[in-house]
Amino acid sequence: MSKPFKTLDDMGDVRGKRVLVREDLNVPMDGDTVTDDTRLRATLPTVTELADKGAIVLILAHFGRPKGQPNPGMSLSRVRSAYEAVLGRPVAYIDWENDAAGVAALREGDVAVLENTRFFGGEEKNDAATVERFVALGDLYVNDAFSAAHRAHASTEGLAHALPAFAGRAMEAELDALEKALGNPEHPVAAVVGGAKVSSKLDVLKHLVTRVDHLIIGGGMANTFLAARGVNVGKSLCEHDLTGTADDILDAADRAGCTVHLPYDVVVAKAFKPNPETRTVNVHEVAAEEMILDIGPAAVEALGDVLKNCRTLVWNGPLGAFETPPFDAATVALAKTAAALTEDGSLVSVAGGGDTVAALNHAGVADSFTFVSTAGGAFLEWMEGRELPGVAALIT
Ligand code: 3PG
Repeated sequence: MSKPFKTLDDMGDVRGKRVLVREDLNVPMDGDTVTDDTRLRATLPTVTELADKGAIVLILAHFGRPKGQPNPGMSLSRVRSAYEAVLGRPVAYIDWENDAAGVAALREGDVAVLENTRFFGGEEKNDAATVERFVALGDLYVNDAFSAAHRAHASTEGLAHALPAFAGRAMEAELDALEKALGNPEHPVAAVVGGAKVSSKLDVLKHLVTRVDHLIIGGGMANTFLAARGVNVGKSLCEHDLTGTADDILDAADRAGCTVHLPYDVVVAKAFKPNPETRTVNVHEVAAEEMILDIGPAAVEALGDVLKNCRTLVWNGPLGAFETPPFDAATVALAKTAAALTEDGSLVSVAGGGDTVAALNHAGVADSFTFVSTAGGAFLEWMEGRELPGVAALIT
């Protein structure tokens, strides 16, 4: 099936051409060490393919939020050597504003990281002058950074209108997976939405009830829904002011034929710390001084049965306070079920956003999911059904 955007396959001969490739090199660092190089590795297919085809690869990326000012702590020179190790080939770093000769000296097959796009005020404003400055550097544009595609910036959006524009391999894989998961999925579709607060995912929940057959709510946000249903949640994290909104979401789900799954057993404790004394109780038996910190085993088993009858799963957010043992149990157990069903070929599983990748890595199953997105905010905006400017600009 033809795609609504052009890919590297449509670029023709790139030998000797200067290709501006927007990547997301916004990686976490501790001192000089990159602590998670997932995003660096995600760029490998595109950068390697272009360099091997003889292109001059000029990587545009942001790093942190320097707010339009040069800031040495947010210089992409800090990422260069880790990136070189991941790519397994030399990577030049060019402060191109002050080093036009550095860009001019590059040859076929060379890879260079250009200085942080956000050192220029016009990047975030997406102004024409900044787009023009980038255009002057390259012949072709590739956007490979889905995780920055929710930003309408010069390097993520403006450039796509100013140069022949293509989706990179990581962007292509991401868009293909997202299309399979929510755009045009095989039904029944289940969504797992967890995390601490309903307030941060209201639009996600409102959109999902119209798109999926089963909505599984976990994490702290489940408590707000339980409270909306009259359950006394004790000292649990709960947005009591949002119980009316939770009710509206439950009604909307009802109207749309979406089954909402809330836990009916939960793991509670009086203190939130590693390995406290816990009880597993029916949701109606939470004592006034207790907190719900995870979904219970009976609910996890029932949710596993739901997934067994589904063909597609979208997962965002942990089911419990997974960073603090033993409240990782439900997330780990359900993630393992989803991974096994994916490996059996009965489920397409797509996960992403914030803590989700960490939770799946913790469960040891990230590699078994059909697709795990490296995006945070962009994944959530996509789950809200919003158009991402960086993606829209690629659509032909
Ligand atoms: C991210 O880390 O989610 C992306 O790199 C986007 O960064 P931003 O939220 O600063 O735009």
